[in-house]
Amino acid sequence: MRKQSTNLNKSVYNISRRANELSPSGIRKFFDLVYAMPDAISLGVGEPDFVTPWHIRESAIESIEKGQTMYTSNSGIIELRKELNKYFRNEYDIDYDPNTEMLVTVGVSEGLDLAMRAMINPGDEVIISDPAYVAYASAVILADGVPVAVPTYEANNFALEAADVEKYITKKTRAILIGYPSNPTGAVMSKDQLAAIADLAQKHNLMVVSDEIYAKLVYGVTHTCIASLPGMKARTILLNGFSKAFAMTGWRVGYACAPKEIIAAMTKIHQYSMMCVSTMGQVAAIEALRNGADSVKEMVEDYSRRRLVIVKGLRDIGLPCFEPKGAFYAFPSIKVTGMTSEQFAETLLAEEKVAAVPGSAFGKCGEGYIRCCYATSLPKIEEALKRMGRFVNKYKKS
Ligand SMILES: Cc1ncc(COP(=O)(O)O)c(C=O)c1O
Repeated sequence: MRKQSTNLNKSVYNISRRANELSPSGIRKFFDLVYAMPDAISLGVGEPDFVTPWHIRESAIESIEKGQTMYTSNSGIIELRKELNKYFRNEYDIDYDPNTEMLVTVGVSEGLDLAMRAMINPGDEVIISDPAYVAYASAVILADGVPVAVPTYEANNFALEAADVEKYITKKTRAILIGYPSNPTGAVMSKDQLAAIADLAQKHNLMVVSDEIYAKLVYGVTHTCIASLPGMKARTILLNGFSKAFAMTGWRVGYACAPKEIIAAMTKIHQYSMMCVSTMGQVAAIEALRNGADSVKEMVEDYSRRRLVIVKGLRDIGLPCFEPKGAFYAFPSIKVTGMTSEQFAETLLAEEKVAAVPGSAFGKCGEGYIRCCYATSLPKIEEALKRMGRFVNKYKKS
């Protein structure tokens, strides 16, 4: 091979301020370690352990066989948007116009990015909860906005309280970004708590961006869609998708529903950055909406059984654990050990080969907790609890 010239001026690699300002995801960093340990039990990455139900996979296979391999409309296949319209009318009595108030996105991840880029001007502030899903602050920063973290507490069931939020509202506040049921805590906000946030948004003329990806994964409680509250359809960007409820993380299909002005702006960005979501993914999503309800019900029942086992198990080994009512995460306190959550997670992985995510990866208020994803098999959960019990016994302060 011919030797290449090395007189490259390294300034060509200067990284943009935006990229420099992002911290690497505390989850990914940690899980690179786990992949190198085949006998580790992972309570880590937050995704269903189920494979996408067969009838959904089959619909995508059929679409490929029929040669449906072209781009779709930038907004997404109209049949999918019509199914979504039906879904929202049935579930929450909200009527989103499939032609102007919906956009099919590459998961909630893209919806979140588009929502921020369509709405935020440099320096605009977006309120998020602390702890919160790792992508929220980054999405705000990438849009040149400023994330403002409002503490939430276990004593308050990790709900974002309107009274606390109001203290952080300034002239620059543009939106409140909420994600309930919550990753990482499993908390679900009640209708009254959401109504208080809705009142605040109306009082201060703010938008609400609501990530409802775990809406279908609730246990013994009802999820309230904030856009269904009086006056809120007009000031909500609702984000959701197929990843979690239908076990479709790899398909990358989500959607945004919002007032037409916002959807038009999001669609403009989407058409240049993504063009459209994969055609077979959208076909599979139509099948999921039409015929997937029973599979979702079965998976939810299964998660609920695992939830009871992990919460009881964590409490029994001496880690106090708030009862999660949604998503598939338990968020036990590890304060009895006196370790930071990062020390706890790293030492647990090194000594007992159990992977959990340090709560601090989700914000300052996550310190003192770890996130345990229970979307894994019961025998693995039980084995992980055994190993964690040994670990807590060894390190707990008397
Ligand atoms: C709260 C939350 N929102 C969004 C996402 C990403 O969703 P999607 O797969 O639809 O991009 C995740 C994934 O873990 C999540 O936990």
